[in-house]
Amino acid sequence: MKHARSGIGRTQKTAAKEGLFAKHPSRADTFTESVIREMTRLALAHNAINLAQGFPDFPCPEELKTAASVAVRDNHNQYAITWGAKNLRDALSARVKTFNGMDFDPETEITVTCGSTEAMMASMLAVIRPGDEVIVPEPFYENYGPDAEISGAVPKYVPLAADFSINEEAWKKAVSRKTRAIILNTPNNPTGKIFTRGELAFIRDLCVDHNLVALTDEIYEHIVYDGRKHISLGSLDGMEDRTVTIGSFSKTYSVTGWRVGYALADADLTSRIRKIHDFLTVGAPAPLQQAAVTALSLPGSYYLGLAEEYNRKRHILYNGLKKAGFSCELPEGAYYIFTDIAGFGKSDVDFARYLVEKIGVAAVPGSSFYHTGGETKLRFTFSKLDGTLEEACRRLEKLA
Ligand SMILES: Cc1ncc(COP(=O)(O)O)c(C=O)c1O
Repeated sequence: MKHARSGIGRTQKTAAKEGLFAKHPSRADTFTESVIREMTRLALAHNAINLAQGFPDFPCPEELKTAASVAVRDNHNQYAITWGAKNLRDALSARVKTFNGMDFDPETEITVTCGSTEAMMASMLAVIRPGDEVIVPEPFYENYGPDAEISGAVPKYVPLAADFSINEEAWKKAVSRKTRAIILNTPNNPTGKIFTRGELAFIRDLCVDHNLVALTDEIYEHIVYDGRKHISLGSLDGMEDRTVTIGSFSKTYSVTGWRVGYALADADLTSRIRKIHDFLTVGAPAPLQQAAVTALSLPGSYYLGLAEEYNRKRHILYNGLKKAGFSCELPEGAYYIFTDIAGFGKSDVDFARYLVEKIGVAAVPGSSFYHTGGETKLRFTFSKLDGTLEEACRRLEKLA
């Protein structure tokens, strides 16, 4: 497993050495814990500023807090309909039509899940037959490989080009008779890459030619910069019945702890996803689904404001990292800067440990985004208050 190399993840790997699991290792023995979440624990232990895990240290919009409290008070405290409260599915259907240009029937084509994390896991379990192969572009958000393995698939890691665009020949070569699905994440974590219409058309052609399903994680769809536009792969002709579009309230509304997300797909795919979702979680938190309806009613200016805020934060962190000696580019979207640390002469894991222990800033070692490689990279998030970022930059200046 890739994380066994990192050193940070190694300590948490379950060792099937003795006792109950000595002769019967379980699937859990093949995984290490998430490096990203582990860095959060290390940041807490060392009182470091956490620029590792992507969650805001500022509050969500006031309207959403009120809506959540009102929903609890108004007795939305029992199970919602398994695939999501009707008013939330209706609101999602309307929103996705105007923003993403896609039509989904709220009765048969929308499933509300416990975050996009569950949406991805349920979707993989719904489409994968054990032994199938799944294309995972590299670098990747670290859940996708374990998700594929949990569903019995073999992940096929396909490197993106140096500028994070799609290397068409590598993708074509990666597809085999066993390939069943392609995972896409746009805007991308960790690279910030927003895939272009041309790149999406290439993926569409690959999916159609080889009868593949696309699982597309679009959790950062509203966090885009410099006039760029997010395009949903599922909105391309030919992708209607072979795409699961995954979204979430976590990042757009700064409520990562609410655990409300969704999977959008045609009725056939949705009926499969719903069965898995039902047995995995029964449903997403009922009062927070009601508050999510309020979130979807926020005006267009909310989304513009969100992108503007993150644009300012992007520049604060970028300038600070440059000053401290990191080599990096401004990301096109999402809220991470993926830096090159070759100039510092330490591996990603050693450098991440040094930063958290001695400098007081936590970042994520690059190797946790790669099956092979990434040791010359570190990821920082700028989903923090300006003051938090400024203090982190002050601390990082000591490196210069
Ligand atoms: C690309 C990506 N997908 C999914 C998630 C998790 O999302 P959720 O909170 O909706 O489960 C994250 C969180 O950082 C992410 O970066």
